[in-house]
Amino acid sequence: MKDNNLLQIVNLNAGYGAIQVLWNIEFEIKHREIVCIIGANGAGKSTLLKNIVGILSPYNGQILYENEEITRFSSPERIKKGIGFAPEGRHLFFGLTVEDNLLMGAFQRKVDKKILREDLDFVYNLFKPLRGYRNKLAGNLSGGEQQMCTIGRALMSKPKLLIIDELSLGLAPVIVDDIVDTIIKLRNEQGISILIVEQDVQVALDIADRGYVLENGSVVMQDSTDKLAKNKHIKTAYLGVI
Ligand SMILES: Nc1ncnc2c1ncn2[C@@H]1O[C@H](COP(=O)(O)OP(=O)(O)OP(=O)(O)O)[C@@H](O)[C@H]1O
Ligand SMILES: [Mg+2]
Repeated sequence: MKDNNLLQIVNLNAGYGAIQVLWNIEFEIKHREIVCIIGANGAGKSTLLKNIVGILSPYNGQILYENEEITRFSSPERIKKGIGFAPEGRHLFFGLTVEDNLLMGAFQRKVDKKILREDLDFVYNLFKPLRGYRNKLAGNLSGGEQQMCTIGRALMSKPKLLIIDELSLGLAPVIVDDIVDTIIKLRNEQGISILIVEQDVQVALDIADRGYVLENGSVVMQDSTDKLAKNKHIKTAYLGVI
C-alpha cells in the first residue's frame, strides 16, 4: 500500500448473495483527498460504499485502511477507526431530537460530556440551522436540514474519512451550495478525506479532486476531475452535452 493512501481497495468482488454487483474493483483515496464516484442508477455505487463501511462483506478482495486490512471488520469497528458514513436515504431517527441523533454518531466514543459538548458545538458551527433546531424532532426537519443532521452525525464519530452517499439528492440548489462549501472546509481545515457519491455529476466534478466512473459494477475510468470534465464519454453520458 502506498504511504499516502488512507483507503485502498484491491480486486474486490461483491454483491448480494448470488447476485454479483461489483467486479474487480481497484480504488484508493489519499489523505486529504476528495474523491467522487460517478455512475448511473444501479451501477453499484451504494454497494461499493456499503462494502467500505462494513454493512456488506465482499466475496473476495481486500480493503485496507491506514495500512491495515479491515476487509472482515464489523461496521462499528470501522467507525471506531475513523470511517464515518452518511447513508443514502439518511436513516435518521425521526422520533428523536436533532441533538440525540447527533449524539448517536458518538455512541462508541468513551469521552466525557464536556468533549461531546464541544463536538456538538463544532457541528452546530458548521451547520448553523441545526443549533436552533437542536430540540426539534429530526422528522420535522426539511430535507436540507436532515442532510446536515446526517453529515453531522457522521462527524460526531470523529472520522478521518467521511463518506457521503447522494450528497445533493432532493435538495434545493442553495442548500447544496452550503453543504458543498462545508465539505470543502472540512477537508481544508480539518484534513478529513471525503468520498462522495453524487448523482449531479457537475457538482461531483466541481467538488472532488479525483473521480471514479462505475458502469455495471466495474470501474471503467478514473482520473482527476479536471480531466474527467473534458472527457468526451463523460460529457455525453453524464453531463448531457450533445
Ligand atoms: N439488497 C439488495 N439485494 C439484491 N440486489 C440489490 C440490493 N441492493 C441493490 N441491489 C442491486 O445491486 C445493483 C447496484 O445497486 P446500488 O444500490 O449499489 O446502485 P447505485 O449505483 O447506488 O444506484 P442509485 O444511483 O440508484 O443509488 C442494482 O442492480 C440493484 O438492484
Ligand atoms: Mg445508490
